[in-house]
Amino acid sequence: MMLSLPSRVLSGLLVAALGGRAAVSDRLPLSYAPIPADTYVPANAAGTTTLLDLVQSRPELSLLAELVAGSAGFTQAFNTTPEWSFTFLAPSNTALANNTGAYFSTFAAQPKGKWWLGNLLQHHYVPGSALTLADLAAGDGTVQRLQTGTYLYVSVQAESDSASSQVLLNNVASVSTADLAVTSGVVHIIDHVLDPAAQIFEPAYPSVSQAFIPGSCANTALSYC
Ligand SMILES: *[C@@H]1O[C@H](CO)[C@@H](O)[C@H](O)[C@H]1NC(C)=O
Repeated sequence: MMLSLPSRVLSGLLVAALGGRAAVSDRLPLSYAPIPADTYVPANAAGTTTLLDLVQSRPELSLLAELVAGSAGFTQAFNTTPEWSFTFLAPSNTALANNTGAYFSTFAAQPKGKWWLGNLLQHHYVPGSALTLADLAAGDGTVQRLQTGTYLYVSVQAESDSASSQVLLNNVASVSTADLAVTSGVVHIIDHVLDPAAQIFEPAYPSVSQAFIPGSCANTALSYC
């Protein structure tokens, strides 16, 4: 008989039984509270180009601009002038629209996907560095590691045979536009999303039996992307 009750009534009863915190059960999962109107926003000095300015100014980063706007707090964070230097690897529209798969677009649209996209953005930010393409390519064929804002690593492999000193990030992403200067930082536009989950699991893919690996779609050649 209990099973025939609508689940909302059921959870209301359950909440009432557990101490009457019914308001909590009405809230959408992972919805963001509005930012209070009097929140302090640090001013940028005249002539500053913030990361947000750059992302919003380039047509090939319009999907990234939407993603920043949709992840709570990121507009504000991207619009500050940090005291540290940083390198940002900006996924282009090609990266976000054409080089992800069904998993990415399905999960990104979920409430939990918003949280995941925020983490994903941090995985493209390397604090305490201002690395030019020449710095990234300095390994000359060897693999270097960059520690990102997620504390996890992105691999950087210089393609030694390339006259243009190109690099391959996480074995999948190439730099399409390099060395864009912003205040305190350097931005490179890349053609694939860098995904920590993909980095951890893709080498193990042939040996695992599961058909679905969360968050792992940097490589669209994989069957689940
Ligand atoms: C995505 O791929 C389609 C089909 O090849 C192409 O027309 C479109 O320009 C691509 N979009 C981006 C942002 O690269």
